[in-house]
Amino acid sequence: DMAGMTHMEHMVSMTASVSEKGMVSCAAIMAPESSGPTRKFDMTAARTTLKLDNGKMADAWTFNGSSPGPELRVTEGDRVVVTLHNKDIEDGVTIHWHGIAVPCSQDGIAGVTQDAVAPGGQFTYTFIATTPGTYWYHSHQMSSIQASKGLLGALIIEPKQQPESNPSTLEATVLYQQLGSTMLVNGNTNGLSVPGKPGDQVRLRLINAGNETMEFDVEGAPFRVMAMDGHDLHNPGELDGTIVPVGAGQRYDFLIKVPESGQVVINSPESSPIMIGSGIQPQHSEGGQLFSFVDYGTPLPNDSALHIEPDQRFELKLGQTLFTKSINGKSFHEIPPMDVKNGDHILITVSNEGGGDHPFHIHGHVFRVLSRDSVALKGSPVYLDTLLTKKGETYELMLEANNPGLWMAHCHDLKHASMGMSMMINYE
Ligand code: C2O
Ligand code: CU
Repeated sequence: DMAGMTHMEHMVSMTASVSEKGMVSCAAIMAPESSGPTRKFDMTAARTTLKLDNGKMADAWTFNGSSPGPELRVTEGDRVVVTLHNKDIEDGVTIHWHGIAVPCSQDGIAGVTQDAVAPGGQFTYTFIATTPGTYWYHSHQMSSIQASKGLLGALIIEPKQQPESNPSTLEATVLYQQLGSTMLVNGNTNGLSVPGKPGDQVRLRLINAGNETMEFDVEGAPFRVMAMDGHDLHNPGELDGTIVPVGAGQRYDFLIKVPESGQVVINSPESSPIMIGSGIQPQHSEGGQLFSFVDYGTPLPNDSALHIEPDQRFELKLGQTLFTKSINGKSFHEIPPMDVKNGDHILITVSNEGGGDHPFHIHGHVFRVLSRDSVALKGSPVYLDTLLTKKGETYELMLEANNPGLWMAHCHDLKHASMGMSMMINYE
């Protein structure tokens, strides 16, 4: 579709494009009614000089004066209304609601679903907070630049009713980002300390808003992975010494019980540590095994979704072509969109043929991971919006086309995405 092509070229050249035909159908799709309360937020993007906790000054682009921007915390069923203002970001700004199946017109994709908001301008996003969990937001205009300049933040959807099985007594959001070349956790360079006393069960909402895979290791206490990309796992078991890789764009919720004897430390080679509680430093555990969701948790009884026959299949090979990053050997504007039909079940085979880790993100949808390297998942169902792939791995994903529009699918190493590892899914 040539109109679509034009938009893609706009994004590849990373200019703020002017709306053209092809967007009409998308722009007409608005948020459905919700009986839930309306929650309004104002977010102003601006150039800001931040003073970091290490005393250094950093040129950042911020929402409401900080990076990360404000944590938006809403409740399942709320109607979320966010007005974005752009004070002085010359290239324009948008907000993409990473992981949330918003209507296409609210997805914040400059040149596809809207024009970037120019300095002095504004745009109001409306969507329903559907699925409780840990999400985040970031600008999607020249996103590899604007996210690393600081235009991002956490978005938490709390469940309307805490499940009775919810064991956590405390929680903390922990957002990692790379501000330029500086790794920050909740805006700090020196790590983070999270309150917690012996016996507390702390839910850590880890958000990897950087471009690199992070590996987490919990020292001093066993822990569980409660959720991935905002979606709870079924009966997650206790892990001890396990190293958990979290791809760029992904979120993992850990549940950690603070032990009687002091402190828990969450380490990652990529960032400074998170401390929970106080007391003696736990013993450094020896490098454990890597977490694998293939056999983690337990299957759902009568899981009928497992037996759905796909209506269409696509194969995507993520790799490296000369000096650039590609899908099926092609770069963004050359890649034909996945043309699907509303209601179809789409089986997507994604393989990583090299060129780094490729965390593959699909907008507007949640997909189920069916297999890795031809081994069917035998634990909890795993639903993601961003799948970390390592070199040599192949995954099968099932996606239900239930949110019509023009959607992006791309590597969430945003440098890779801007080099061409991006494509579209398209349907009415
Ligand atoms: Cu966080 Cu296009 O994505
Ligand atoms: Cu990549």
